[in-house]
Amino acid sequence: MKKIAAIIGSNGAIGNSISENLLKDDIVDCIYKFSRKINDKDTDKVKNFVIDIEDEDSIKEAVQSLPDNIKFDLVFVATGILHNDDDIFPEKSIRDINSIKLKKVLLVNTIGPTLVGKYFIPLLQKGTKSTFAFLSARVGSITDNKLGGWYSYRASKTALNQIIKNFSIEVKRTNPDAIFVGLQPGTVKSYLSKPFEKNVKDNKLFTPDYSAKKLLEVIAELDIKDTGKIFAWNGEEIQP
Ligand SMILES: NC(=O)c1ccc[n+]([C@@H]2O[C@H](COP(=O)([O-])OP(=O)(O)OC[C@H]3O[C@@H](n4cnc5c(N)ncnc54)[C@H](OP(=O)(O)O)[C@@H]3O)[C@@H](O)[C@H]2O)c1
Repeated sequence: MKKIAAIIGSNGAIGNSISENLLKDDIVDCIYKFSRKINDKDTDKVKNFVIDIEDEDSIKEAVQSLPDNIKFDLVFVATGILHNDDDIFPEKSIRDINSIKLKKVLLVNTIGPTLVGKYFIPLLQKGTKSTFAFLSARVGSITDNKLGGWYSYRASKTALNQIIKNFSIEVKRTNPDAIFVGLQPGTVKSYLSKPFEKNVKDNKLFTPDYSAKKLLEVIAELDIKDTGKIFAWNGEEIQP
C-alpha cells in the first residue's frame, strides 16, 4: 500500500533531506510539507503548507486546510532552535540564563512540537503501523549529561522526550499501531549546528542527506515495542 507523509519544518537541513529521500521512494504516494515559508511549487507528489509552530492557530489552520479524511503513515517533526541571528545562543553558565530566551527555546523545541502532536495525532493512519517522529537531541538525556551548560536547549529536549512518552502511553488505547519516537540525527551540517561544527571531527559531521537516510532506516525498523523511546541515527537507544 502506498504511504503518505507529513514533514513539519521541511525547509530545515534535515527536514528537507527527509522530504527529498521520501520523494525518491516509490512506496511514498504523497508528501505534505509544512514550513514558515513556501519555496516549492505543488506537484502530484508534493503539497506545501504554511505553519508557524509557535502559534497554535497556525497549526490548527494548516491541519484544517488538508484534504478531508487524510491519514498519514509518517509524521516527521524536524523543527528546532539552538541559536538565532539575534541574541539566542546556548548558555555556557548560570549567569547566561535569561527568561525571554529560555521561553523562546522552550516554545520552539517543546511547546510547538507538543501542539503539532495535538493536531496531527488524530490524522495518523489506523490499523497498520504509523510513525510519529520528533527530532530530539542526545543532550536531552539526563543520564548522558556529563558536561552541563546549554540549559534551555537541553531542558527543551528533555521535556520533549517526556511529551513523546506521554503521547505513546495515551495513544496506545485508541491507535495501538501508532509508534512515537524521538530521534537524534547525529551532528549534522546545518544552520543550527554551524557555530559548533569546528568542534566536530570531519567524519563525524554528517551531511543532512546521510543523516536523513539513516533516520529513515531507523524508522523502517521500528516496532510497537519501541514506542515512547529515543533512538540515535544508528538505531542505538538513548536513555532518558
Ligand atoms: N544539526 C544537528 O547537528 C542536530 C543535532 C541534534 C539534534 N538536532 C535537531 O534536529 C532538528 C532540525 O535541525 P537542523 O539541523 O535541520 O536545523 P535547521 O536547518 O536550522 O532547521 C530547523 C528548522 O526549524 C524550523 N523552525 C524554527 N522555528 C519554527 C517555527 N516557529 N515554525 C516552524 N518552523 C520553525 C526552521 O524553519 P525556517 O526554515 O522557516 O527557519 C528550520 O526549517 C532540531 O530539532 C534540532 O534540535 C540537530
